[in-house]
Amino acid sequence: MSQPQNVSIFSPAKINLFLAVTGRRADGYHELISVVAPLDFGDELAAEIGDGRPATGAQFSLECNDPALPVDDSNLVIKAAQAFVAATGWKAAVKFRLTKRIPVGAGLGGGSSNGTAALLALNQLSGAGLGRAALMALAAGLGSDCPLFLPGGPVVMRGRGERVEGLPAAAVRRLHGRSVLLFKPSFGVSTAWTYERLAAAGPESYLAAAEAESRLATWIEGEADAAELLFNNLEPVVFRKYLALPVLLKRLRSQFGLAPRMSGSGSACFALLPVGAPLAEIRAAIVEAWGPISFVQVAAIA
Ligand code: C5P
Repeated sequence: MSQPQNVSIFSPAKINLFLAVTGRRADGYHELISVVAPLDFGDELAAEIGDGRPATGAQFSLECNDPALPVDDSNLVIKAAQAFVAATGWKAAVKFRLTKRIPVGAGLGGGSSNGTAALLALNQLSGAGLGRAALMALAAGLGSDCPLFLPGGPVVMRGRGERVEGLPAAAVRRLHGRSVLLFKPSFGVSTAWTYERLAAAGPESYLAAAEAESRLATWIEGEADAAELLFNNLEPVVFRKYLALPVLLKRLRSQFGLAPRMSGSGSACFALLPVGAPLAEIRAAIVEAWGPISFVQVAAIA
């Protein structure tokens, strides 16, 4: 069977519906228990086998519609491609084109999702046929949030993020298709900074793993709505420095009855949208608090 010469892969954003950081590991990373869901909103990664290598001699090139994004070896798309080649020995030259919509530094997993999309694109183009376990191992080597994008639906991730399992069908039914409002101020937050501050804040900023597992099991095995699952214990450290976040979230709670949360290490936040929510008014409140260049997007849980 002949291999395709080009592929285009949807690279979704994610939100952390439940994020419990349970402790720090000896390697400096943190142990997590998180329910993460991909959205129907995201980037698009196109990959095309080239006629030959570009003048630079590099095997991979990357173009992006966002000029602020580095397209060199520091981009997870290129890192993923290099990891794929190291694992498979594939030699063809590939041109990537990334259409970026997910804001950067947002806790929406954009860069990680792009890295995983690059692995999937090369697996198709090369015909290497790497299976789930091999792709998971490559994704885990790229970044903590890369493996969660492989299954293509809501997952529980544990460890540093490398242990990923699907949710039972009854739990997925309470999440799939739910409408969410994503919103982010013009500034981003560094993931590494957030985890450093959490570690500096002392052991009481973690949630014990047994407590996190028990809360999660209660939600998974019960019938409670998605709203009952929402939790993120990275919020206090981020909210202490970036006051604009808690100020707006408080207003969205009191004025609109929403239950907004921060996603991952921020700065993006999200709220599950009830049917008939006054979107124009909510959007106006966000823009009034965070300014006209804040990002606001309606999406659905995939
Ligand atoms: O793995 P990734 O590059 O996405 O992580 C970015 C940074 O966030 C790490 O360098 C680390 O400081 C922090 N981190 C952590 N524990 C995790 C994930 C990320 O401490 N589980």
